[in-house]
Amino acid sequence: MMATLGRKKRQAATTFIVLCILSSFYICKAQFTPADSYLVDCGSSKSTMVGQRTFTADGASPVKVSTSQDILAGTSANGVASFDNSALYQTARIFTGPSSYTFPIQKQGRHFVRFYFFPFTYQSYDLSLAKFTVSTQDVLLLSDFQQPDKTAPLFKEYSLNITRDTLVISFKPSNGIAFVNAIEVVSVPDDLITDDAQMVNPVQQYSGLSTQPLETVYRVNMGGPKVTPDNDTLSRTWVTDLKYLLNPSVTKQVNYGKRVNYKKGGGGATQLSAPDIVYGTATELAATNTSNALFNMTWQFDVDAGFSYLVRFHFCDIVSKALNQLYFNAYVGGFYAQNNLDLSAMSDSQLATPIYIDVVLSSNDASSKLSISIGPSVLNNVLPDGILNGLEVMKISTGGSAFTVGSGSGNKKWGVILGAALGGVGLFIIVVVLVLLCRRKKTLEKQHSKTWMPFSINGLTSLSTGSRTSYGTTLTSGLNGSYGYRFAFSVLQEATNNFDENWVIGVGGFGKVYKGVMRDESKVAVKRGNPKSQQGLNEFRTEIELLSRLRHRHLVSLIGYCDERNEMILVYEYMEKGTLKSHLYGSDNPSLNWKQRLEVCIGAARGLHYLHTGSAKAIIHRDVKSANILLDENLLAKVADFGLSKTGPELDQTHVSTAVKGSFGYLDPEYFRRQQLTEKSDVYSFGVVLLEVLCARPVIDPTLPREMVNLAEWGMKWQKRGELHQIIDQRISGTIRPDSLRKFGETVEKCLADYGVERPSMGDVLWNLEYVLQLQDADSTVSDVNSMNRIVELPSQVQNVGALESISVTMAEAGASNEPDHDLSDVSMSRVFSQLIKAEGR
Ligand SMILES: *[C@@H]1O[C@H](CO)[C@@H](O)[C@H](O)[C@H]1NC(C)=O
Ligand SMILES: *[C@@H]1O[C@H](CO)[C@@H](O)[C@H](O)[C@H]1NC(C)=O
Ligand SMILES: *[C@@H]1O[C@H](CO)[C@@H](O)[C@H](O)[C@H]1NC(C)=O
Ligand SMILES: *[C@@H]1O[C@H](CO)[C@@H](O)[C@H](O)[C@H]1NC(C)=O
Repeated sequence: MMATLGRKKRQAATTFIVLCILSSFYICKAQFTPADSYLVDCGSSKSTMVGQRTFTADGASPVKVSTSQDILAGTSANGVASFDNSALYQTARIFTGPSSYTFPIQKQGRHFVRFYFFPFTYQSYDLSLAKFTVSTQDVLLLSDFQQPDKTAPLFKEYSLNITRDTLVISFKPSNGIAFVNAIEVVSVPDDLITDDAQMVNPVQQYSGLSTQPLETVYRVNMGGPKVTPDNDTLSRTWVTDLKYLLNPSVTKQVNYGKRVNYKKGGGGATQLSAPDIVYGTATELAATNTSNALFNMTWQFDVDAGFSYLVRFHFCDIVSKALNQLYFNAYVGGFYAQNNLDLSAMSDSQLATPIYIDVVLSSNDASSKLSISIGPSVLNNVLPDGILNGLEVMKISTGGSAFTVGSGSGNKKWGVILGAALGGVGLFIIVVVLVLLCRRKKTLEKQHSKTWMPFSINGLTSLSTGSRTSYGTTLTSGLNGSYGYRFAFSVLQEATNNFDENWVIGVGGFGKVYKGVMRDESKVAVKRGNPKSQQGLNEFRTEIELLSRLRHRHLVSLIGYCDERNEMILVYEYMEKGTLKSHLYGSDNPSLNWKQRLEVCIGAARGLHYLHTGSAKAIIHRDVKSANILLDENLLAKVADFGLSKTGPELDQTHVSTAVKGSFGYLDPEYFRRQQLTEKSDVYSFGVVLLEVLCARPVIDPTLPREMVNLAEWGMKWQKRGELHQIIDQRISGTIRPDSLRKFGETVEKCLADYGVERPSMGDVLWNLEYVLQLQDADSTVSDVNSMNRIVELPSQVQNVGALESISVTMAEAGASNEPDHDLSDVSMSRVFSQLIKAEGR
């Protein structure tokens, strides 16, 4: 056994070393060769060198220009000499009718599309009077655009995911002339813009970026020099930050002067995310000296209101002397983007590791001033400090099809777009806009209904008045055949001794759970929806649909169902040892030791991780608690109860409880406040379960003194003091190794973070728990997180669980139904509320 482990470790180490060599080799050579790279100096008959880049003559193959009428225009070098890239502004192509450039695309995907405009006067053409629309086949880039400042050049950069073989950029004059001085179409690395970002208000994941057209509106190198296209592999320009800083006096500039350490093996920023000089310099809060002075440093940017923005923060801790010393907050538009951000935690345990964080500010929150702040953390024992190395602000196009320019207000924007469309860009734009609007509305409706609709009082009323029959029919036809075994009612009647009250093993809002013994002696759990109450319909359906799609060793399996005679009955594998809760407190079950408890937690975490990530759309359990984690005869943990079936009728009495589902004491406070549900709500609830496992007491116990009532609060109080050991279950307190407990406490604390964005994913929790278990293992010599192989399968007590395959499910007398009186986690929330209010008043 040990020998095998040793060999495995050696193998892993060798692989690791090989990977390191490969990746460092790769990094040394990190250069990006764009598959498509078109640099066109419009209006020029010869190619032009700009820095180290060559812009080809206009009309040179393979770029095609098609135009009804155009003029190649030029101006004197003196007139443009003071501008960056001045050579490009010396010539322009002027169009007097609809015209276009066509670029063959070798590799589909994201491209930078850049335009250079400078309105000079050529013969009778005064380009400053030009007004025109620029679009691709898919995106309206500029509509009725007029140069805002006639004396300065204008540079525009878009990042478009091109999924065609050719890119056609069309210019359409609105009042006679259009022009352009230069165009770039250049491939961008595929991973530069990832699909997801964090939305700040509401706090939730934002997905779908990979197809969104973006416009770069600001790209700033904090605390460092301006970076020109020659100094950036992707030819980006990074400007300095001072002119955007509102309060430069509380800041200072830092320059690292050494090479930064790119994260190996992916997951962080790469050399292409931003050049070294961006990560190697930063603006730092200069309040470090006066520990009581808490300031934010704030940059303010003019933006168009009414658009959503993708804000990319570039960080690299070039100021700390040791790991885990720098904690700070980041804000976008006044909302938390990061709270107590710890850059060390996101790096390979190395300082000066570049990291970027993508944040989306929705159009509802974007005013014409976008403020970005970095402020000190209020954690104790942390010096007030904070840094920012670089920042990119990208406008996300509305409805996927349009950017407007100028000072477009929300209403004006649509006017402009419609105007442009009617003006002749084509009927298709109207259609596209309408289709997108409809689709957006649908998405909104969908999100809405996903969150609350099925439970609203109206919904229930209408279900109970008439639509039930049709619903029932749909349900039945939908279920036929495809959802596992359909039991005859009589079979289940017999199996449960005609639904004998003495065979009840659990009760929920949905109805009762009975033990059942089939004719072949196999045991099952039979959950029977209360036929008189109809609020279970949704849950019934949800659970059948979910469970029949989901198969996992750590999820309780659905064996079949019965919908005969309007019954709503689900038949599950029987879990011999009952609920996790019944093994922690309030029953005569023998207590579990620390390793057993950890293994149960790890199993449950695996189940939840699978729920969150196992299918295309994350499934949120919503009611994670120790009573919903069941144990089989080998103490293998399985997560149960996906339909959120604990919806007693009392819940509908108040507005609050209509909205918020879940069990009191486990409820994510953020979900409660904002009624926004994410996977991180499950992570929070799971954190409470972890505490419950450690302390073996109910999560809400009103019989205790006030500060002890809520386990999550109580536990966090001790964890923050570093004295979690004080409240451990007496029966195991002497047996937990300090390292193991420390790591466990940290994991709990992360799970219980106030904001979802700060909580780890279920996958991270799982990994941490496995580490906790290894630390507990006396034989294990693990001492360093980094030496651990993330995917080590821990030897589990149980090698196979063939419950589902054989359907010879075993069952036992689970006495979980008799909850002790002082435990409220299963009781309806309205009742708990009133009790808590009473408790407050004491
Ligand atoms: C571009 O969009 C397509 C879907 O239209 C997507 O599959 C692809 O991943 C996107 N490419 C990038 C680089 O985001
Ligand atoms: C940019 O590159 C040039 C040479 O290519 C170099 O001389 C200059 O110092 C670089 N500037 C920065 C800010 O790195
Ligand atoms: C800290 O404050 C002291 C006086 O209050 C000043 O002399 C010193 O220069 C300051 N240090 C820094 C790094 O600002
Ligand atoms: C920093 O800015 C944020 C957002 O505007 C604000 O909530 C916070 O109170 C500020 N902190 C300080 C120390 O001024």
